[in-house]
Amino acid sequence: MEAHQTNILVTGASGQLGNVFQYLAPNHPELNFLFTDKSNLDINNAEELNAFFTQHPIHYCINCAAYTAVDRAEREQEQAFAINDNAVGLLAKICHQHEVWLFHISTDYVFDGTKSSGYLETDPTGPVNVYGASKLAGERAAQAVNDKLIIIRTSWLYAKAGHNFVNSMIRLMKEKPAINVVNDQIGSPTYANDLATAIIHIILNYPDPTPGIYHYSNSGSCSWYEFAAEIKSICGLTATITPIPAASYPTPAKRPAFSILNTEKIQHSFHTAIPHWKDSLASCLDNREL
Ligand SMILES: NC(=O)c1ccc[n+]([C@@H]2O[C@H](COP(=O)([O-])OP(=O)(O)OC[C@H]3O[C@@H](n4cnc5c(N)ncnc54)[C@H](OP(=O)(O)O)[C@@H]3O)[C@@H](O)[C@H]2O)c1
Repeated sequence: MEAHQTNILVTGASGQLGNVFQYLAPNHPELNFLFTDKSNLDINNAEELNAFFTQHPIHYCINCAAYTAVDRAEREQEQAFAINDNAVGLLAKICHQHEVWLFHISTDYVFDGTKSSGYLETDPTGPVNVYGASKLAGERAAQAVNDKLIIIRTSWLYAKAGHNFVNSMIRLMKEKPAINVVNDQIGSPTYANDLATAIIHIILNYPDPTPGIYHYSNSGSCSWYEFAAEIKSICGLTATITPIPAASYPTPAKRPAFSILNTEKIQHSFHTAIPHWKDSLASCLDNREL
């Protein structure tokens, strides 16, 4: 590890967002990325964290590690809080001790979904499921111990690789002649490459950013049904998609009906240009082998 370079630790690097940082890293030889996952750095293990931060001179930490199984979290509350709350507190504390900037990723699911215009960073939270509650607890745990902290709440995240709505829809539309998709939950799909690019932009251009919570999602919004219809159109798939109400598709975890994030703060603070979700979806699916 180079002492004169900017050293960036990415935790949970085998996950969807972490993988995207691995993909983008070669474009930034000026940044020295250190990628870790649960196998070599368990963020819920204080001893491992201590040893790691003592050995490596880190400047920024991007926490991509999380418990993200929204439905499973309803019956695995303890595991969800262990990673999304307790471990985030541990990571934030060790970052504080080593004067490391922490970029922590949170979610639109901290809100209850009853608003009808984009959620601001200052809006009251009110998670409607265990996952959202655990992520909110993690935000607070990090805020309590580290002031060099950027929390980025994002929504409906997808990438080329990983468990996400885009890949699930493509698989289902190839397997079945007809599918039903929920039409009364509204949000903004976010391409993980755009989010990762924005974070790298902040680190490169605002080495000492104003700490706080920021919302980042692609611009525009849609229902899950509209999202699926766009995937179908770009991929030239033929399955019939029927819009259904969430009430007809019961899931263990409740989901907010409306979770559009107002992204003006991040755009104005860091001069980040945010692509429209349809353009980003097209980029993600470009040259994809079906
Ligand atoms: N996906 C979405 O739609 C969405 C929406 C809004 C916000 N977010 C947030 O965005 C961030 C990135 O999400 P993602 O979709 O990239 O999640 P992901 O694909 O589930 O990746 C999370 C990674 O964290 C790892 N991990 C779990 N426990 C760990 C531990 N104790 N130590 C180290 N690594 C650990 C997981 O490993 P294992 O798989 O082996 O457990 C996984 O590789 C998360 O904070 C998530 O809450 C996601």
